[in-house]
Amino acid sequence: MVNLVFLGPPGAGKGTQSSYIINDYKVVQISTGDILRSAVKQGTELGKMAKKYMDEGKLVPDDVIIGIVRERLKQDDCKNGFILDGFPRTIAQAVALDAMLKDDLNISLTHIISLEVDDNLIMERLTGRRTCKGCGKVYHIKYNPPKKDGVCDDCGGELYQRDDDKEETIAKRLKVYHEQTSALKDYYKNSGKLYVVNGFGEVDDIYRKIKEILG
Ligand code: AP5
Repeated sequence: MVNLVFLGPPGAGKGTQSSYIINDYKVVQISTGDILRSAVKQGTELGKMAKKYMDEGKLVPDDVIIGIVRERLKQDDCKNGFILDGFPRTIAQAVALDAMLKDDLNISLTHIISLEVDDNLIMERLTGRRTCKGCGKVYHIKYNPPKKDGVCDDCGGELYQRDDDKEETIAKRLKVYHEQTSALKDYYKNSGKLYVVNGFGEVDDIYRKIKEILG
């Protein structure tokens, strides 16, 4: 069973590695960023509220995100395992996650993987990221380019640049990460389930290390 929390700064490669894990381990990926972006696209009340925070590189308030994850984890497709990608991001979210897993679901996390990349790599990774509008597949113009410019290899969808992948917003997201999220490594350090993985290198090599951890 894999009930995984992926920690790591923006652009560490959490989404990229998650796409391999969900194929091999048949678990679901719960990306709070994807859930919020989908709400923004649909123009829901949640989306309108979240957009203000996301455009400024700030975190959406804890109570909103905790409510979203609580409802998502109750769904049947999570019973065979899940990846939490981008949650928790604050100590309050981690405490709430512990409570919902124990009290509502009677399950526990199996792995916490902290994917670590130096700040100086992140700007290049994120300014060069392109995402498919159709299937959400993530590319990089230099490190993982599509076969045809601007077009998804898998579904033929159009590739776009995320609104928050502008230099100024990336710098803010990174600051927020160091101020509010990086402390989570300490929070999990005595759990016996925390693994640190260097996120610098070839995507396949990093995935190999992750597979060794997940078994
Ligand atoms: P979210 O969508 O979670 O963004 P993030 O954490 O900033 O993570 P990213 O998606 O930017 O990075 P990633 O690690 O997945 O990297 P990727 O694999 O794409 O959050 C967005 C916003 O939503 C937040 O700012 C906040 O406002 C809000 N939010 C979300 N969750 C929240 C929460 N819990 N609480 C409050 N607010 C929340 O890779 C990046 C690029 O690098 C790609 O182009 C990829 O191709 C490339 N790449 C990947 N691996 C490699 C490699 N090994 N070598 C070279 N290039 C690589």
